[in-house]
Order: sequence, then C-alpha cells, then structure tokens
Amino acid sequence: MRCWTPNKLRALKGKKRFATVTCYDATSAALIEALGDTSDLPLVLVGDSLGMTMQGNDSPLPVTLDHMVYHTQCVARVLRTPMLIADMPFGSYQACDEDGFRNALRLIQEGGADGIKLEGGERCASLIHQLVEAGIPVCGHLGLTPQSCLAMGGFKVQGRNPEAAQRLLHDAKILENAGCFSLVVEGVPASLGKAVSEALSIPVIGIGAGADTDGQILVWQDLLGLNLGHVPKFARAFACLGEQAIHGLRTYCAAVAEGTFPATSECYE
Ligand code: KIV
Repeated sequence: MRCWTPNKLRALKGKKRFATVTCYDATSAALIEALGDTSDLPLVLVGDSLGMTMQGNDSPLPVTLDHMVYHTQCVARVLRTPMLIADMPFGSYQACDEDGFRNALRLIQEGGADGIKLEGGERCASLIHQLVEAGIPVCGHLGLTPQSCLAMGGFKVQGRNPEAAQRLLHDAKILENAGCFSLVVEGVPASLGKAVSEALSIPVIGIGAGADTDGQILVWQDLLGLNLGHVPKFARAFACLGEQAIHGLRTYCAAVAEGTFPATSECYE
C-alpha cells in the first residue's frame, strides 16, 4: 500500500493546494520518490497522454489497455509514496459497463494502480458507481477530454458559453455523487475551474483551468522542459532538461571523436 490514499487526498480539500504530475516509467518514478517529502505531490497519474509523450502519436486515441497496463507496471514497481492512478484508455469503457469494470480491474490487478481515471460526465456515472462499490477509487475528468478530440474537432478549450459551463457543473456534481474521490478539469476558463472547485466537496485538479482549483496537474515532459514540440499556453517548464540533454549528447559525441572518452579511469585493467 502506498502512503497517500483517497481519504488523505480528500482531506486536503480547502486546506492545502497540491501538485500532481504524470509519469510513465520507472526512472521518472524514482525521481519522484527521491523528493523524499511528497506532502505537496500526493498523486501521480499514468496518463494516456503517453500516446503523445512516449509513443509519438498526435492524440491518445491509439493507446490500448495493454499499453496502459505496461506503463503502469513500470511506475508501480518504484513508486511508494504518492497514490498512483492510471487512465482508462479510449475504447476500454465506452461500449458497456462490463467492459469498463473488467478493464479497470486489469489496471489495478496487473498494473498495480491504486485507482483509475476516466473521461466523461453523466454517461459514466453507473460505471463509476460500480467501481467505487467494488473498492476501486475513481477520478473523473471533464472539460477538454482528449479522448473526444475527434468529436471536439481538436484540443479546444471547453465550457466557454453559459450553457456549456452549466452542463459541466451538472456533470461534475453527478461524478461526485457517483463516488469519485477527485476530479480533473482540463482546458476550461479560469472562472469555471474556480466554480467547479467551489461547488464540489472533493478535490478538483486543474490543467489549463486557472489558478483556483484545489490542485494542478502537468505532463512530465512539459513540466521539465523535455517537450521540444508545441507547448500549450497553460504549461510552464520548471526546468530545462531538454536543453541539458542536447548539450550532454553533443559533449559526449565530441569526447568520443576527440578520444577523451573513455579516460584511463573509465577502463578495466
Ligand atoms: O493523460 C493525461 O496525461 C491526462 C492529464 C493531462 C490530466 O489526462
């Protein structure tokens, strides 16, 4: 069992803002654990954004349940302290609740996740209820839901007009009543991020949803400056690891070409 649980996370509501981050591999999980104190980082997500960050696709749609199980296992072997949740990928829960239930079990039993995240409002309520009844913590996801990128015509900010904002608030309350322990709200105006956070008693985790949500989440590569492609407006790079990696590669190549690597101390006698 990891240290952070849904109850501890819920207890942060109104008391402390927290950060969360995506993670897809063991090396990154070890860096998170190396923080020592994870009181400000209680939750880690194996997001289906790995379709872009790890697989090079332009959306999460090609990500399969097997991919999610594999990456969740990689993180789960190393992560000890924050709660670990994994995304239900596109197609793993939309057809029927039976599919959704069975597939969520795989992320817990095979993947080693402590809970799952899925996208959608009212239509997911019965599945969420079943999962929660069976003891599987569920995090909802509303607003810009990347698995709906075909229907949305791309990755577009949602909830901009009053009707859409009301619908999102309505869905958020339904997800809370269905038993979600937290809710991700992505790509909505800051005022709506604030309104959802104020309307719910579970923690609302924002990404591109303004400064007034209970928590924030960023994609690992965006947060550490490893994303050399398009960086969304809401993402801030808190380190420049991409630049450092390129510098490291250049320096290594030069050392090999000059014959200064390996040095005598780096050779076996
Ligand atoms: O897949 C993902 O990484 C996500 C977060 C960005 C919220 O859903």
